[in-house]
Amino acid sequence: MCLMINNLLDKLYSERTLSKDEFISLINCPKDTSEHLRSLAEKVRIENYGHDIYMRGLIEFSNYCRQDCYYCGIRRSNTSCPRYRLSFNDIAECCREGYRLGFRTFVLQSGEDPYFTDDRICKIIEAIKRDYPDCAVTLSLGEKSREIYKRFFDCGADRYLLRHETANKAHFKKLHPENQTFEGRMECLQILKEIGYQVGCGFMVGSPFQNAECLADDLLFIKKLNPQMVGIGPFIPHGQTPFKEYSAGSLDMTLKMLSIIRLMLPGVLLPATTALATIDPRGREKGILAGANVVMPNLSPVKVREKYQLYDNKVCTGEESAQCRSCLEKRIQSVGCRLVVARGDSKNI
Ligand code: 5AD
Ligand code: FES
Repeated sequence: MCLMINNLLDKLYSERTLSKDEFISLINCPKDTSEHLRSLAEKVRIENYGHDIYMRGLIEFSNYCRQDCYYCGIRRSNTSCPRYRLSFNDIAECCREGYRLGFRTFVLQSGEDPYFTDDRICKIIEAIKRDYPDCAVTLSLGEKSREIYKRFFDCGADRYLLRHETANKAHFKKLHPENQTFEGRMECLQILKEIGYQVGCGFMVGSPFQNAECLADDLLFIKKLNPQMVGIGPFIPHGQTPFKEYSAGSLDMTLKMLSIIRLMLPGVLLPATTALATIDPRGREKGILAGANVVMPNLSPVKVREKYQLYDNKVCTGEESAQCRSCLEKRIQSVGCRLVVARGDSKNI
């Protein structure tokens, strides 16, 4: 049944896309062709980025969130989540330490926290760009209006991560309460592109109610949006959410998606995510071998790390940034790559 799969892989490699039915066949095909897919994706990663792996310093500066995604551990209804906010000085300190360790991109991520007004965010962006003009600032702050996205961009923000979560409208409704709409999410991504951000979308693999058709929709959507970055990782249940009983997404399916995306968008930036490292002790390394070329270790102060729990058993919640960096360095070298000190802009422009 999977005999034609090698033909599909060759077609994906040369044409950089497939039809929806072809994607569904590829997604449904069991493991036996996975090595062929992986090695093509690794080859394409090397053609585009050599053996360089970019690192981004992730600063999770607030876990307050006004939204209530059913899958997420920091959703507003989770009253047992200890909430925290980093001060301006805390954030500045993270950047200082990060710069010293070789980070040249800072990712400011938080829940949708009204305390962090536009003025406060602009002040942070401007301070980072002033003190580290050779660094890129990436925002991951959720859904905002066009005006606010534009303001942040004009203050100096370079990139914006906003996962689309699923490109299938019926599926989106099953993952979110009614006030969070599929159209709203898609519009935000469109606006971010129009403003001129380097944009990242993405989704969870194995989220509840996801099927092969949803994944095929994700792939076709990503092809159409043509983003600079794609963040994907397995869904991992969190014990204080409505999805606590669902099982986690699989390693193999996550790696398969990484490889397919590398073949579709050869120059895209593709992180081997913390969620991937959480479901497998060599998840990051396997992600890189499957075509990923970015790692995003945590720069947040150790004291708040375990409070930013989107899912259970998140890795690297205890180590200092410096330890995190040297641990990563070794892991990356073990798969023949090197961590580079660079902004690492996308080759997908
Ligand atoms: N498992 C895996 N990923 C999750 N995210 C949120 N909750 C979970 C979970 N339980 C992802 C979402 C979000 C990103 C910041 O983290 O895709 O966009
Ligand atoms: Fe915060 Fe989803 S729970 S944006």
